[in-house]
This record gives sequence, structure tokens and C-alpha cells, in this order.
Amino acid sequence: MNELQKKISDIGVVPVIKLNHPQRDAKALADALCAGGMPIAEVTFRAAGAADAIRIMAEAHPEMIIGAGTVMTTAQIDEALAAGAKFIVTPGLDTELVEYCQSKDVTIFPGCTTPTDYHTAFRYGLEVLKFFPAEQSGGLAKIKAMSAPFPMFKVMPTGGISLKNLADYAASPVIAACGGSYMVTADLIDNGKWDEITDLCIKSIEIVKNARAK
Ligand code: 3PG
Repeated sequence: MNELQKKISDIGVVPVIKLNHPQRDAKALADALCAGGMPIAEVTFRAAGAADAIRIMAEAHPEMIIGAGTVMTTAQIDEALAAGAKFIVTPGLDTELVEYCQSKDVTIFPGCTTPTDYHTAFRYGLEVLKFFPAEQSGGLAKIKAMSAPFPMFKVMPTGGISLKNLADYAASPVIAACGGSYMVTADLIDNGKWDEITDLCIKSIEIVKNARAK
């Protein structure tokens, strides 16, 4: 793992964020995450204005590790990096995007769930993969089964992670960090429930800490 991946792994949980109103919500959300001990975000390009959200969060909290998610094109990678993104997450394994990030020395977590994906990721020298959509693709059981032939990878599962299954995932040595939107849902954000977001972050960090200590 590189330095950035180690820092992400140390935090242990990555909130996956879709912000429809970055000017209204990005700073308050960044404040809430940092207050909850989760100075990290994957800001998805599922919403227009993702780059604005990245910029606002990065300016408000330079200590935060902010990445871009649901990245589909090299143009979005450029946009994200210009806004201050430190890492790129893609839903699937697009080798053009992997090569583009590697040419810029930028950390990319491509979504991988099959042995074929892992083979390709191995060829590109990747070490940490997004495992997406985690629960729907077989969950922790599949992640563990995949690590038998591919012990060189750590994964960042997202998709269906919640407070209920976080401990199970976090306890596995194959897991670099867990991603999810459960602590940053549209309901929480649209209704400005910042304290609740902070509480969910605190709970999540505690769960990961305890699971790893076992
Ligand atoms: C992602 O893009 O990583 C997922 O959509 C997050 O999945 P979740 O909403 O089930 O946490």
C-alpha cells in the first residue's frame, strides 16, 4: 500500500457521497465528517457539481483526504484532480482510466469483483481494489474466496455496507477500508442532520477499531 492507501486504511471507513447542492451542503458535511473522526470522502460524479463539492470540502478542511467516485472518463479525472481530489474511484475496471491515473501518479481504486478483474488489476500492479457492489456480488464470503488465489490485494468493499455488517467486514485482514453511504444518506444531508452524521461516523470508527482489535 502507498502512503495514501495506508492513511485511508487507518481511518477504515470511507463515506460515499452524492451531493446535489454542493454550495449549500459541502462545507457543513465536511465539518460533520471531520467532527466524527472521518476526515475522508469519496465524492461521486453521480451528481453534477461533484467537482465543486470536492473543492469546497478540500478548502474548508485541507487535512481531509477527498477523492472522486463514480468516475467514468479521463475528463472527469482531470476535473476531480483540478478540484483537489487525492484519489479516483471507478465503478468497474476501465484500463484506460487506470493507465491515465498511473501516468499521473494518482491512486485509483477500480471496482473489481471477478477473477478476471483481479487478473487485470494484477497486471497493472494495483494493490488495493474497490470491491463493488460488495453485498450484491457475494459479500465478505466472496472477498475471502478471491483472496486465496489473489493474496496480493486488499479491497475496499462498498455497496450494502451498514452499521450491521461493518464489523464483519472490518475484522477481515483482506479489507483495507469499508465504503458506504449509510452515514451520508440523502435524508441526512437534505435535512441538515449534521449531528446525526457525526454520530454515525463516531459509531463506525468505533466499530472498526473494535473489530480490528479482536
Ligand atoms: C458506491 O458507489 O460505492 C455505492 O453506491 C455505495 O453503496 P451503498 O449506497 O450501498 O453504501
